[in-house]
Amino acid sequence: MLAGLSAPQRHLNCKYFYDQRGSQLFDAICEADDYYITRTELAIMDEYLEEMVEQIGRRVMLLEYGSGSSTKTRKLLAKLEQPAAYVPIDISEEHLLQAANTLRELFPDIEVLPVTADFTSEFELPRSQKEATHAAVYFPGSTIGNFPPAEAKQMLARFAKIVGSDGGLLIGFDRQKDPTTLEAAYNDSQGVTAAFNLNLLHRINRELGADFDVDAFEHRAVYFPNEGRIEMQLVSKCAQTVNVGGKDFEFSSGEHIRTEYSHKYKIEDFTALAAEAGFSLRKHWSDPKQYFAVMYFVQNAD
Ligand code: TRP
Repeated sequence: MLAGLSAPQRHLNCKYFYDQRGSQLFDAICEADDYYITRTELAIMDEYLEEMVEQIGRRVMLLEYGSGSSTKTRKLLAKLEQPAAYVPIDISEEHLLQAANTLRELFPDIEVLPVTADFTSEFELPRSQKEATHAAVYFPGSTIGNFPPAEAKQMLARFAKIVGSDGGLLIGFDRQKDPTTLEAAYNDSQGVTAAFNLNLLHRINRELGADFDVDAFEHRAVYFPNEGRIEMQLVSKCAQTVNVGGKDFEFSSGEHIRTEYSHKYKIEDFTALAAEAGFSLRKHWSDPKQYFAVMYFVQNAD
């Protein structure tokens, strides 16, 4: 945090959004009218669930990175053929464990093995009781877009290594589209995204003894077409000094902290990125407006 706040362009890592309150606010974002992403991905799943499940195959060990409430995953779990286990991985422990319990009630025959971890670092995967024939990573929600392309490629390469040969990847990403739709999605009129972004400052105050005057910052999201990405920012409304961990940070009026990227991809660019990481495209699905895409890749195919 200190390094990010000290950088010429101040920034904070988006993984810190997800404390208990952050995870709840994120669930609310997913239901906000302007945030088309979740709705669109769910509709694609409803339409093509059979095909997705067929691609994934039977007796899979399904691993989900940044699983949150596992809402989309329920659709898969209801249809997968004899899954060996489901491993939801999330940084937000309480939220994860609650979600895991709900899943156990809904799917008593599926072993649910939650792992609390920062999925950008190494951690051990649990073993399932039933034997799996192969593993597949599920990475929906355009979480991949929250990493700059070079890091996204590394993440995909890690997935390729983790699932091994015959392993799969079912991934959802947001597509490039008109800036108005994009900016509205990240500046929702209900103000949920603003509350989510500002919650990071409350968290820093509480957990790191900082003294951010949260009302003196405001949320902003801007689309940069050249980079194909949304940037979420916290803008200082005035000149002010903030103390974090015993260190003073001077903000000028209008200066911002970047809190998140959300990259938007073209179909062919994403396919190429995944290929560089060792994945071959098997099938892909989209919605009538071409807003979002879900793809199934296999490692080492053809
Ligand atoms: N990966 C999603 C996206 O980029 C979800 C997300 C993460 C998000 N942080 C967000 C959405 C903040 C809205 C606001 O859209």
